[in-house]
Amino acid sequence: MINIILFGPPGSGKGTQSEKLIEAYGLIHLSTGDILRREIAAGTALGLEAKTLMDKGNLVPDEVVVGMISAALDENPQAKGFLFDGFPRTEAQSIALDNLLAEKNTEIGVVLALDVSQEELEKRLLQRGLTSGRPDDINKAIISNRIVEYQTKTMVVSNYYSKFDKVVHVKGEGTVDTIFVSLRSEIDKRLSN
Ligand code: AP5
Repeated sequence: MINIILFGPPGSGKGTQSEKLIEAYGLIHLSTGDILRREIAAGTALGLEAKTLMDKGNLVPDEVVVGMISAALDENPQAKGFLFDGFPRTEAQSIALDNLLAEKNTEIGVVLALDVSQEELEKRLLQRGLTSGRPDDINKAIISNRIVEYQTKTMVVSNYYSKFDKVVHVKGEGTVDTIFVSLRSEIDKRLSN
């Protein structure tokens, strides 16, 4: 079993690479952004609360996303491993995740951090905003706010896992396939240990 955090700023390719990785390794994909968007589409109270924050590019409260992840872990007792995408996003979420995994006698194996320049992030998200219908891709001000949220609240997650020597940086620019090969190589190294 291996549990992986795919880490990186908005637009760094977490969702794109997650789809390929879950297929390659048979992992359960847990994307808090996707779960929240499903709640919004279903019109739940949680979705309505989250939408106001997400549309502005602000983070949703820790207790909301930790609760969602806790439920998803419980729903998948037979999982070969989990791929966390967009979670954890604060130090409190990181500590909560480690505790939830410890209760299940497992842990994070590796944090794969995608490095992409701010210019490239903005370009990708503005481009996607032309067709995606995602309100948080709609203009440069909201995209910039998402990047500021990442810099001020989320980058600490990398420092947190660095203390346990779990973070590996991977170049997140280039073709999707080249980046996928780099990510696979890091995972395979850990699986063979
Ligand atoms: P979330 O859904 O997690 O979005 P995000 O982190 O902002 O990331 P994106 O999905 O936009 O980008 P990505 O890194 O997945 O890249 P992607 O593969 O899509 O979160 C949305 C919101 O939900 C947050 O702002 C927050 O409000 C809330 N939220 C979620 N989780 C939370 C949490 N844990 N705590 C609190 N709040 C939370 O690619 C982006 C684009 O680039 C695509 O168009 C793609 O085709 C393109 N692309 C990908 N790879 C390449 C490449 N190599 N070259 C060129 N283009 C590429």
